Amino acid sequence: MLEIWLRLLLFCGIFSNALGAFIGINIGTDVSNLPSATDIVAILKALQISNVRLFDADAHMLNALSNTGIEVMVSVTNEEVLGIGESSSTAAAWINKNVAAYVPSTNITSIAVGSEILTSIPNAAPVLVPAMNYLYKALVSSNLNHQVKVSTPQSMEIIPRPFPPSTATFNTTWNSTVFQILQFLQNTNSFYMLNAYPYYEYVKSNGIFPIDYALFRPLSSVKQIVDPNTLFRYNSMFEALVDATYSSIEALNFTRIPIVVTETGWPWFGGANEPDATLENAKIFNENLIQRVFNDSGPPSQPTIPVNTYIYELFNEDTRPGPVSEKNWGVLFTNGTAVYPLSLSNSDSNGANSSTVFCIVKSGADENKLQNGLNWACGPGEANCKAIQQGQPCYFPDTLQNHASYAYNDYYQKMHSSGGTCDFDGTATTTTNDPSYRSCKFSGSLNSSTSELFPAPAFGPIAPFSGSSRNLVSQISLFLLWFYFM
Ligand SMILES: *[C@@H]1O[C@H](CO)[C@@H](O)[C@H](O)[C@H]1NC(C)=O
Ligand SMILES: *[C@@H]1O[C@H](CO)[C@@H](O)[C@H](O)[C@H]1NC(C)=O
Ligand SMILES: *[C@@H]1O[C@H](CO)[C@@H](O)[C@H](O)[C@H]1NC(C)=O
Ligand SMILES: *[C@@H]1O[C@H](CO)[C@@H](O)[C@H](O)[C@H]1NC(C)=O
Ligand SMILES: *[C@@H]1O[C@H](CO)[C@@H](O)[C@H](O)[C@H]1NC(C)=O
Ligand SMILES: *[C@@H]1O[C@H](CO)[C@@H](O)[C@H](O)[C@H]1NC(C)=O
Ligand SMILES: *[C@@H]1O[C@H](CO)[C@@H](O)[C@H](O)[C@H]1NC(C)=O
Ligand SMILES: *[C@@H]1O[C@H](CO)[C@@H](O)[C@H](O)[C@H]1NC(C)=O
Repeated sequence: MLEIWLRLLLFCGIFSNALGAFIGINIGTDVSNLPSATDIVAILKALQISNVRLFDADAHMLNALSNTGIEVMVSVTNEEVLGIGESSSTAAAWINKNVAAYVPSTNITSIAVGSEILTSIPNAAPVLVPAMNYLYKALVSSNLNHQVKVSTPQSMEIIPRPFPPSTATFNTTWNSTVFQILQFLQNTNSFYMLNAYPYYEYVKSNGIFPIDYALFRPLSSVKQIVDPNTLFRYNSMFEALVDATYSSIEALNFTRIPIVVTETGWPWFGGANEPDATLENAKIFNENLIQRVFNDSGPPSQPTIPVNTYIYELFNEDTRPGPVSEKNWGVLFTNGTAVYPLSLSNSDSNGANSSTVFCIVKSGADENKLQNGLNWACGPGEANCKAIQQGQPCYFPDTLQNHASYAYNDYYQKMHSSGGTCDFDGTATTTTNDPSYRSCKFSGSLNSSTSELFPAPAFGPIAPFSGSSRNLVSQISLFLLWFYFM
């Protein structure tokens, strides 16, 4: 028992920090009209995103991310892994060009070596650990090994039977590779990179698991999901997947390797054969995920290790091949508009009332009238429209509605005491809900921290999502279903 507690304490020291868990975001670039690196970084700042993962080491992005305080995970592409795994000088050149050249002004803190190599290009498996070793040695030469960690994201597919978590093990085909990876991670104080998608596990399970379980929604008492060996109760499939990975690692006798979830998410739109890829499910999944991560506790088997997590993904990648859902994992359109409003924090200040009256755009207002209203407010109306210029905190989402709301409100705050009205040819309305979001503070705001990703409510209330849920499972205890999977 004492040993267990000591181990937990060590974990704490190694990995967690006083600030608790983080939520980061993946930035995939298979996008036909990707915003410029500068614009992407403006979006990240507006969202106050602290951690990003790039799928390569794009020079424009790394330059744009400099001096932002944003922590960056860069990636060695699968194509690059072979060359690096075969030559230490190629690895050194990669580090010089893509890491050493940017730190410290760009805060690169980790390198993801390949993406799901074992399952996507298994014939490269023999060079994976050599590649990681060469990269690590190059970091040592540059004296960067303490601030930059090397790891390699793996898919859940290398753990064939993740349920129940306590009995999960890695596919024995990969014994020696996985063993070497874990040894590397332990020796270098690095962490395991896990891509874990309850969406795919749920779809694969053919209705065995209730969708509520995949979406972090409470389960009725007869459907509680309990691991029969540990008696840990699992409130979400996400936690079960993370614990299945901890168990698999432990089965190979490694104990001090924290897990970071490098990808998870939910598609918001899919083809006719992908009925679970809906806006409602995506919103619920990501909202609940964020709350769960910001809770700062770990999964049942490792309660003191926060589950740092990167959401997949920032933009919809419309040029990705594959099923319709593959193109629809983003939380933003490339014009900066949120696909669905997403609350990035677990504070419940959402919707906090204020005694201040704000003036914002009315839902459904005519666009021509809005443009005229915006022009008037920023011109003759003398509103201060600096914050909605490109590169400023209220520029994104780059929409007429957002910009006009900001300008109308600035005018109104200055002028209503001397008779200025909130009308703008019928396109404006007042509200006591503070429309500020993240670093975009509307005039009159008491800096009350609202937690919308983007100010979707800046034009009227959002229609609440209907609480429909598919009742897939009969009233049998899922406790029994663990055995089904064993
Ligand atoms: C980079 O991020 C790490 C981890 O949050 C932090 O400790 C460090 O101070 C940051 N470095 C810079 C230069 O901002
Ligand atoms: C383990 O991986 C191998 C190679 O990909 C595959 O053929 C095998 O079916 C997997 N085993 C299980 C139990 O999934
Ligand atoms: C992998 O490891 C497991 C557990 O240690 C062992 O039972 C199995 O035989 C090993 N398989 C291979 C292919 O080495
Ligand atoms: C793990 O350690 C135990 C006890 O030392 C040992 O019996 C077992 O064979 C080890 N398993 C592996 C996969 O090395
Ligand atoms: C955090 O999550 C754990 C596990 O779901 C739960 O037991 C605990 O009550 C939560 N704590 C808070 C403060 O929400
Ligand atoms: C905010 O105002 C609404 C409508 O006046 C009221 O129903 C709600 O309870 C208030 N919320 C808070 C947190 O004061
Ligand atoms: C942003 O792009 C999306 C998707 O193309 C579109 O539906 C939406 O109307 C756009 N918003 C604005 C304000 O242009
Ligand atoms: C509100 O924000 C302004 C500017 O960012 C800052 O100067 C002020 O101290 C803040 N007020 C509070 C109460 O946090």
